[in-house]
Amino acid sequence: MAPTITKWILIAILSILVMKPGIILIQGQQQVPCLFFFGDSQFDNGNNNQLITTAKVNYPPYGIDFPDGPTGRFTNGKNIADFLAQFLGFANPIPPFTTARGSDVLKGVNYASGGAGILDESGILLGGRIPLNQQLINHRTTIGRIRLLLIRNRTITPESYLNKCLYVVNMGSNDYLNNYFLQPISPSRILFTPDRFAANLIQRLTQQLRTLYNSGARKVAVFGLGLLGCTPQELSMFPANASGCVDFINEAAQLFNNRLKPVIDDFNTNSPGAQFIYVNITSISLGDPASIGITVVNAACCVVEARSGQCVRNGIPCSNRNEYAFWDNFHPTELLNLVTASRSFNVLLPEDAYPVDIQRLVLQ
Ligand SMILES: *[C@@H]1O[C@H](CO)[C@@H](O)[C@H](O)[C@H]1NC(C)=O
Ligand SMILES: *[C@@H]1O[C@H](CO)[C@@H](O)[C@H](O)[C@H]1NC(C)=O
Ligand SMILES: *[C@@H]1O[C@H](CO)[C@@H](O)[C@H](O)[C@H]1NC(C)=O
Repeated sequence: MAPTITKWILIAILSILVMKPGIILIQGQQQVPCLFFFGDSQFDNGNNNQLITTAKVNYPPYGIDFPDGPTGRFTNGKNIADFLAQFLGFANPIPPFTTARGSDVLKGVNYASGGAGILDESGILLGGRIPLNQQLINHRTTIGRIRLLLIRNRTITPESYLNKCLYVVNMGSNDYLNNYFLQPISPSRILFTPDRFAANLIQRLTQQLRTLYNSGARKVAVFGLGLLGCTPQELSMFPANASGCVDFINEAAQLFNNRLKPVIDDFNTNSPGAQFIYVNITSISLGDPASIGITVVNAACCVVEARSGQCVRNGIPCSNRNEYAFWDNFHPTELLNLVTASRSFNVLLPEDAYPVDIQRLVLQ
């Protein structure tokens, strides 16, 4: 294990250096013309701000380490989408769909929405949110705008432009946390075994990825589910196992992941031009967090409101934020987002991404 952990420390430290202004290692040429994000609160950068919903965090202390303060990002600083855009050479974050205007959309759009799921009904108790189906409809609006913007362009057609973009999809956590595993018991859990539920989700997600492919996406990175049973919120609701996590929740998420990987193979084999990859968050979560100074893995950094699991407004968060894995009861700190983004971009362990990582995907 030792070499692995050493390597992990190395990349984490390297990645941190990359972030420090002045020591920017990965910068310069934008590696894809455009970047689109589909997802939930892990990617959301403001789409929920105008909605009537509990899943909205445009208030302090969210964004305490972000240059613009609270923006609707569900963390203290940058989220995974911010880091990926940075690694891909974009000068600015990809704008949220709700505020993206004019020629901005040529560089891409972030459609992600806190509380949203693969299933339209997931997260319904939170209030407003933009499920993946609606995110795909919003993408059609963007494509219409891109067509207009490129109408006089003789060097590139909208179709070939859209083929060159990178599409990142991160969905499913809310189908478990805000649907299947809701307490005391959810209708989904009465109706379906974990395996059946995972099969249903993957069937829907496959259709949604097909829609994305049909609208011109070729380079697509799909994130699997992480260790949902290790979030402080689930640990406050269910007894922990010897692993320190709620094993049956992690096992249910693994059933989803196991069924997702063959879908990636299927696209690559049977859909002309498709270059899909699977990002294995389970693998990325392996390693000793203490090696990069994270010492608290089972509690939130901010003062949390018990029911929502989000930070209370204006609460004073911990000052040693780089020692915490979790910012609130669901969402990682900026430091952990950096690790996830950097390992999906450039794998540390071979299992982190399949068949290639994001860096290699965009070069193909
Ligand atoms: C056409 O699109 C390409 C690619 O985005 C761009 O570099 C070029 O400036 C555009 N040309 C015109 C005339 O808009
Ligand atoms: C985890 O803990 C629960 C409740 O304490 C127990 O029922 C279950 O068998 C444990 N699972 C494993 C894999 O140990
Ligand atoms: C993800 O990585 C873990 C740890 O290496 C591995 O056990 C699991 O099989 C991988 N999942 C998939 C779907 O490849």
